[in-house]
Amino acid sequence: MTDYLSIKQVMEQGSGEVAIRGWVYRERGSKKLKFIVLRDSTNIIQCVIARDDIGDEKFGIADKIQIEASMEIQGTIKKEDRAPTGYEILVKDFRLVGESDKFPITKDQSVEFLADKRHLWLRSRKMTAILKIRSTLFGAYHDYFRGQGFYEYQSPIFQGIQCEGGSTLFEVNYFGKPIYLAQTWQLYAEPAIFSLEKIYTLAPSFRAERSKTSRHLTEYWHAEMEVAWSNFRMIQDYGEGLLKHLVKTVLEKNKAELEILGRDITKLQPTIEKPFPRMTYTEALKILKEKCDMEVEWGKDLRTIEEDKISQLYDTPIIITDYPKVVKAFYMKETEGNPDTVQGCDFIAPDGYGEIIGGSQREDNIDKIKENLVAMGEKIENYEFYLDTRRWGSVPHGGFGLGMERVISWICGLDTIKDAIPFPRTMTRYTP
Ligand code: 4AD
Ligand code: MG
Repeated sequence: MTDYLSIKQVMEQGSGEVAIRGWVYRERGSKKLKFIVLRDSTNIIQCVIARDDIGDEKFGIADKIQIEASMEIQGTIKKEDRAPTGYEILVKDFRLVGESDKFPITKDQSVEFLADKRHLWLRSRKMTAILKIRSTLFGAYHDYFRGQGFYEYQSPIFQGIQCEGGSTLFEVNYFGKPIYLAQTWQLYAEPAIFSLEKIYTLAPSFRAERSKTSRHLTEYWHAEMEVAWSNFRMIQDYGEGLLKHLVKTVLEKNKAELEILGRDITKLQPTIEKPFPRMTYTEALKILKEKCDMEVEWGKDLRTIEEDKISQLYDTPIIITDYPKVVKAFYMKETEGNPDTVQGCDFIAPDGYGEIIGGSQREDNIDKIKENLVAMGEKIENYEFYLDTRRWGSVPHGGFGLGMERVISWICGLDTIKDAIPFPRTMTRYTP
């Protein structure tokens, strides 16, 4: 049995006999030599097959090998400055494992074509790098909350009521009755803080987003937390602590991938080092007016363009708090001493990546919740189970939701959120 090593491992070894396996990333050849750049999940490496070393018959097979064929290669590795990753393997023997005929993806193809061939495009170095960072982030997210004594908890995906507004609900035919796909775990998470106190989840959320933007998916991975006995400041502290931990972990584990993606890591460093500026919505309007020459009427939600402008003034995420009640969800608690605003917070990422976290302290006054629901045209009786949380042993509590793909986009410096998930779902795409 041959002991196959990863390309990363053989490069660390640097000399001697090695065996690797992977897929053909590039190939070119002459009558006497065939150059194959092989890739595996860890890296790429140049391999040279010489007719004189392996004989005419085997060279004939090598000569026909095309991009994305899978192979096993044995040979000697040495340093080679002209090779793409600084090492080269002189091939002694090889086996063609899976043939490949004219791989459909070549250079300079349109975004649409690559989206149609997404299942093959996942093999690209760019997607491989992003998927590795995604994996780091999912792990780091679990570590952060488990490390602080949170329990992982799951809510249903099929839900009978809305939480984040009717306009982005996906309706499902549930044995003839209309129900919805989860926009958030929240209404089913709040009941569980009375048993577990500190909980978190990482699960898909669904939004029927009609907007075709670089920030919206219809299916995204939602990292949510909910905690009993909280105050509004604690919710913001958890969000800031989490983002610092996520960025720090990626910088520790994925320098190589960030380099492949061309991400300027000095832009991520401040997030770890500096406290995030916190400002109220009202203060944000003042800053927008004074520093960005943008006038927003008090009471109007901040639009993407305003979020982008204000975030450009800072090099870390910023936290905007105390939004007008009219633009936020029914469950948010009123600001103390101001019934017109709520203890809700949005975290806006730097570099124009927009809202990455939305959270709040929850309203504990049952009459206020009912009032808000009625004002939205909701039927109170559908929310009775939720209202029960305020009837028996209500405690101050709150939580937030973080869009994993938004954070991946920002950390990786992506042009579109679609590259932050293997098979993106948007208004216009649900295949492959
Ligand atoms: O601000 P949102 O709507 O908040 C909630 O759903 C709360 N119930 C969360 C909570 O308190 N437990 O969504 C939270 C985050 C947003 O900040 C954004 O990062 C992400 O979810 N998000 C989306 N990500 C990708 N595509 C979409 N269409 C998204 N909609 C929201
Ligand atoms: Mg929001």
